[in-house]
Amino acid sequence: MQLIKPRQYFEGEFLLPGDKSITHRAVMLNSGADGEAVITNALMGEDCLSTCRCMRALGAQVDIDGTTIKIKGTPSFDSGKKLDCGNSGTTIRLLTGFIAGKQIEATLYGDESLSTRPMKRVAEPLSLLGADVRTSDGHAPVFVYPQNLQGADIRLAISSAQVKSAVLLAGLSADGKTSVTEPVKSRDHTERMLLAMGAKIDVEDTRVTIEKSELKAVDISVPSDISSASYFMALGALKGKTLCKNVGVNPTRTGILTALDKLGVKYSLLNKRVSGGEETADILVEKSYMQAITLSEKDVPAMIDELPLVALLCAFADGESHITGAKELRVKESDRIKTTAELIKNLGGDCEELEDGFIIKGKKKLLGGNIDSYLDHRIAMTGAVGLLASENGGNIHRPECCAISFPDFFEKLQVKNA
Ligand code: S3P
Repeated sequence: MQLIKPRQYFEGEFLLPGDKSITHRAVMLNSGADGEAVITNALMGEDCLSTCRCMRALGAQVDIDGTTIKIKGTPSFDSGKKLDCGNSGTTIRLLTGFIAGKQIEATLYGDESLSTRPMKRVAEPLSLLGADVRTSDGHAPVFVYPQNLQGADIRLAISSAQVKSAVLLAGLSADGKTSVTEPVKSRDHTERMLLAMGAKIDVEDTRVTIEKSELKAVDISVPSDISSASYFMALGALKGKTLCKNVGVNPTRTGILTALDKLGVKYSLLNKRVSGGEETADILVEKSYMQAITLSEKDVPAMIDELPLVALLCAFADGESHITGAKELRVKESDRIKTTAELIKNLGGDCEELEDGFIIKGKKKLLGGNIDSYLDHRIAMTGAVGLLASENGGNIHRPECCAISFPDFFEKLQVKNA
């Protein structure tokens, strides 16, 4: 149980942990590349440690020292391994694609939550390349058997960086060209990193084409995760002023900024630069009057992990907000439409659950109360923001899950200037 006391004012400068998506990819791709690489400012969250564990089991050398990971890759993976992906959807989905054409046999499994999440969305497109990937009634454990892959033109029904990446990583070992097209462009870290590692890859709007390629190891300096920064950005908007430093602002990830724009939040990007093929900036957010917003399907991919927090901000905004086209939230670490609506209601807000989103009637003040994380890190952190900004605060049940993406979240929240 974690008690969160209300604050009248919240101000501070924050250096947030490394980006989860980029850390996963940096570890996984370098583990299958020729050469050695050093990854700095890597996220040491449990999900990324799951990727490190799996890549070691497959035969790569992965040495962790603080937030630096040294990797010696191997182009041929060990066969017959059981790969524990923990709670991590990114690990299980990307890795299934990466090994599908590597002529090995493997079993990929995870915890209770991961075992309920859909895996057919990866198995089906991979089977179009000729892969032999079998699920357990659509879920993990996932079994991969050796097969020769053949390139194909794949159209995804949903926008998902995990599914897109699984296909692209399989395409690295497929004969011919593999193309993948998604309805709305999702995060493109895989494409950028593959290009930096020498893969033959071409991006044309929402369609990405890859050819059989060998990867060369590259050093990667990981920017801070905008998903982790978003909790502190929200606290700036609600309660004072925050500066989040060296945050990744790749345009496929900045949906939270679009939401802040619509809400009317005052923010600025300072010190903009490009590091390791990814845009970064310091993000300054100041307390602002917020008005209700409307978000639809096209807005969702760039803020998929921030939507519980955006819904919470709507609960503090003036007017009725509508968020639709976000059905994907139902199959995250928890059913985030259900768990977010419950969280807002337990704080004293008004949130109606839709099949694919929410209607939120904003109130300027929320009383606070007790909430459950449902073992979902993003729900726990969204709850912490809501309680800190509420009138009375309250308790978070099962807060430890924050360690999945943000191990020292609660320490960072304890800034002195309350
Ligand atoms: C991720 C993609 C998203 C996101 C997840 C990380 C990635 O999932 O929700 O936290 O690193 O590719 P989907 O691709 O399933 O939308």
